[in-house]
Amino acid sequence: MLTTKSASPHACELFARHFRAEPGWLLSVPGRVNLIGEHIDYHDLPVLPMGIQRSIQIAFRGNETPIIRIESEGYGSRSISIHADENSSGPAGDWSNYVLAATRLAASHWPLRQGIDAAVASDLPPAAGLSSSSALLIGLTLALLTANSITPDFDELMNIFPDGEQFVGTRGGGMDHAAILASRAGSALLVEFAPLAVRPVPIPSDWAFLAAHSLTTAEKSGAMRSQYNSRREAGSAALRKLGLASFRSALESRPAAELAALAGNPSLSDAESRSFLHVIAEAARVREAVTALENQDPVAFGGLLNASHASLRDHLQVSNPALDELVDCAMQAGALGARLTGAGFGGYTIILCAVADQQRICTELVKRFYARRSGFNPEAHLFVAEPSAGVVSG
Ligand code: GLA
Repeated sequence: MLTTKSASPHACELFARHFRAEPGWLLSVPGRVNLIGEHIDYHDLPVLPMGIQRSIQIAFRGNETPIIRIESEGYGSRSISIHADENSSGPAGDWSNYVLAATRLAASHWPLRQGIDAAVASDLPPAAGLSSSSALLIGLTLALLTANSITPDFDELMNIFPDGEQFVGTRGGGMDHAAILASRAGSALLVEFAPLAVRPVPIPSDWAFLAAHSLTTAEKSGAMRSQYNSRREAGSAALRKLGLASFRSALESRPAAELAALAGNPSLSDAESRSFLHVIAEAARVREAVTALENQDPVAFGGLLNASHASLRDHLQVSNPALDELVDCAMQAGALGARLTGAGFGGYTIILCAVADQQRICTELVKRFYARRSGFNPEAHLFVAEPSAGVVSG
């Protein structure tokens, strides 16, 4: 789980500069892209994300005091007590809320003896669908636990994280935490819920996934929160009105066509009907995508990515014009499939192509999409997402 400090000079240098000492540990917490299975984890349906090489790094050491003193290059210094009041919070959107949430999470499950000094560095773009907020929350919590000699396993961590996330943004499902914690290098991670189970599915070495930013962002703590929650509620309301116990039992007991027909039930609002259609079809696509991956069939996998995007755009309505245009540009440039990844409303797309084509497709995307926009930073906004290890599976 913990690497030596030489692996990330940046967080360690920041630590040394700020605290005038050497950190004891360095924690590297990957972001994730979701390959397929969008907006269905919170309905306890399987999803297929993967950890990526972009990460949040935390250099830290226990400080034998009840205070967490923390420094980030971009966001400044904060000090917080490990006994911080349950209801205390920083200004809306301030990163001290992550430190508070991590403290609350750790302290409500384990006895904390001391705080930490910590420096945080990141090459994971924020508000872009790559799970930077979950990575930060997980990283801060694990740093605090490590300094207190507490080493929970994957299942214990999965019991606390999805709920803990609501202190800082959306109450999502468990996909992000599972991917950040348990991904394996070279593989996608099939994540199932209730009961929780994860299975790495190897990605063929001649497939490449490009992460391409739409140059539009969606702050989890902002308006996106209510948009996200409304999609979740619409799906659950549809289920209730149709008298179904859960999406999973419905999918297991009825043919797809019969389920799709239920979306036309007049008791459902338009949004409920569209959400229902998205969820049942996306769940089927995850199953088919795992088969396509196992059969090493990139054309089938790419087709499923395109169908997922169309459903997120038309049924769930969580895309935006920049994401749609980027997906179109990728397809015109010769990609095998593309879709928005994460919650949507901005952020990244994930694009499947052959490794042999990745350079040409990047060049085409710059010409067709980025050249007409300002603020494009090639290193941050367009990169090959490498299937990377999670923080506890490393
Ligand atoms: C966010 C949430 C996840 C998931 C996705 C949409 O990233 O944190 O749990 O719901 O949106 O698939």
